[in-house]
Amino acid sequence: MTDTTKFWAVVPAAGVGKRMNADRPKQYLLLAGKTVLEQTLLRLLQADVFSAISVAISVEDPYWPELEVASHEKIITAPGGKERADSVLSGLKSICAMASDDDWVLVHDAARPCLTSSDIHHLINSLVDDEVGGILALSSHDTLKNVQGTSILGTLDRSHIWRALTPQMFRYGMLKNALEAAEGNLAVTDEASALELLGLQPKIVEGRPDNIKITRPEDLALAQFYLEQQ
Ligand code: CTP
Ligand code: MG
Repeated sequence: MTDTTKFWAVVPAAGVGKRMNADRPKQYLLLAGKTVLEQTLLRLLQADVFSAISVAISVEDPYWPELEVASHEKIITAPGGKERADSVLSGLKSICAMASDDDWVLVHDAARPCLTSSDIHHLINSLVDDEVGGILALSSHDTLKNVQGTSILGTLDRSHIWRALTPQMFRYGMLKNALEAAEGNLAVTDEASALELLGLQPKIVEGRPDNIKITRPEDLALAQFYLEQQ
């Protein structure tokens, strides 16, 4: 890594939160006195490593302009896309005039507000000399079954199975190329899978279990609990 290598963050925040089943997208639900999205962005700003943070926001989103953080000097707004990968690509394009191909980008879900500075620095320190980059991940504690309908076909070897979290950290140029090559491929649900399709092998870095993604209503109370504990 050269001294001029920069770090950027891209935050996809253009989802509708269907599984949350609330009156607004889940990133605008209140969590410990702020919206989920504000909590997430605060965490990234506090890490104090990013040259800028590009946030992908749905073009019909009336909530974002109301947030104070939307006008923060380090925050850039990009138009959201149809799928998560489209939103991430849009975020990458919004910094193309400033970012170099060799810079690092950390992509982090708006819906993961319990990310700690320690995990951000752990990911960066673990991967900064890596050729490809990688992701925060968690091993599975439960025994995992391969199931068809309701019948168990077998038990998976858990030692090879990891749950993908965010942030996911890749070089700007490589990630943009990979997402462009994968455009329209619905199997690309995270950044790593776009690089895997190019035959590359991203690394995993063990993350903290409190870095949960708010997906269903019960997750909000759990996130509140984790924030209080941290
Ligand atoms: N996201 C995005 N653009 C999309 C879809 C999702 O930026 N077109 C973002 C979400 O806002 C979220 C992250 O990607 O921060 C992870 O997606 P997910 O948890 O699936 O959120 P939603 O798609 O909003 O939720 P659901 O799938 O339940 O509708
Ligand atoms: Mg979704």
